[in-house]
Amino acid sequence: MGASKILIIGSINMDLVLRVPYIPQVGETLLGSSVERVPGGKGANQAVTAAKLGADVSMLGKVGGDEFGGPLIDNLRQAGVNTDHIDLESASSSGLAVIQVNDEGDNSIVVLSGANDLCDLSYVTAHENLIKEADSVILQLEIPHEAVYAAVNLARKHGKTVILNPAPAPDSIPDEVLGKLDYLIPNETELQKLSGQTVDSIASAKDAAKVLLAKGVSSLIVTLGSNGSLYVNANESFHVPARAVKAVDTTAAGDSFVAAFAVGLSEGRSVPEAISFATKVSSIVVTKAGAQTSIPERNEVDAFV
Ligand code: RIB
Repeated sequence: MGASKILIIGSINMDLVLRVPYIPQVGETLLGSSVERVPGGKGANQAVTAAKLGADVSMLGKVGGDEFGGPLIDNLRQAGVNTDHIDLESASSSGLAVIQVNDEGDNSIVVLSGANDLCDLSYVTAHENLIKEADSVILQLEIPHEAVYAAVNLARKHGKTVILNPAPAPDSIPDEVLGKLDYLIPNETELQKLSGQTVDSIASAKDAAKVLLAKGVSSLIVTLGSNGSLYVNANESFHVPARAVKAVDTTAAGDSFVAAFAVGLSEGRSVPEAISFATKVSSIVVTKAGAQTSIPERNEVDAFV
């Protein structure tokens, strides 16, 4: 049996990463220590993770005709992602993220969407065949939301496992979309925004997750940074602690968690086992700098103690 097919629909960015001692206040000028260009974008980071872990990965997304577009596609291809359906929009610029990373490895990110904004409803619906061929479909929210919601509908129509990482956090997601998800994987901030409830502990995350369950989501996994993650469905909930590692840069930790969870499931793992696998992968990611530069090969994950 071949590897399970995972389709990722989402953003592709070039990250401009500034190392700073701390995230500056409004009105403050701060001296940084370095600047680097690193391939990123939530969708692309997820695609690279799933491919490096051994899944059969295709991606739908768009890059611009600027100096970044070609190299961003090449980078995905080199990681093993099928890029045949990624469009290069010559009249547009590529997605660009300006990321500040502080001494603790925490970040703040501003994204200029560029060509990601052209991943619209017609582009997604024109690739219904790819959704039909996949076993699972992973989505985030850095492309037009109507395209994401259409992909959720198509994936559900064809009986696929549907995973939504609601990042960046929207004010809301239509209940009819939530009701078609197998897994919603938000972080604390995203869960807080979507539920309208404060999330500052494992108990409050569980309460907030129940608001989304009531709206029709089958299962949630809330990523809690150094506090691990929390799984909640209608019948059970459990907390999985994080691994103790020294964080260098948390960029792409959430993206790698989402993709590794999907790979874990596709390899036949149980949900707790898939979460444990995803926790291991994201723990390695935070020990390295950058988004796609931090994503480990499968043998590194298997050897990680
Ligand atoms: O989740 C990290 C990613 O968010 C970065 O790579 C950046 O491009 C933004 O999409």
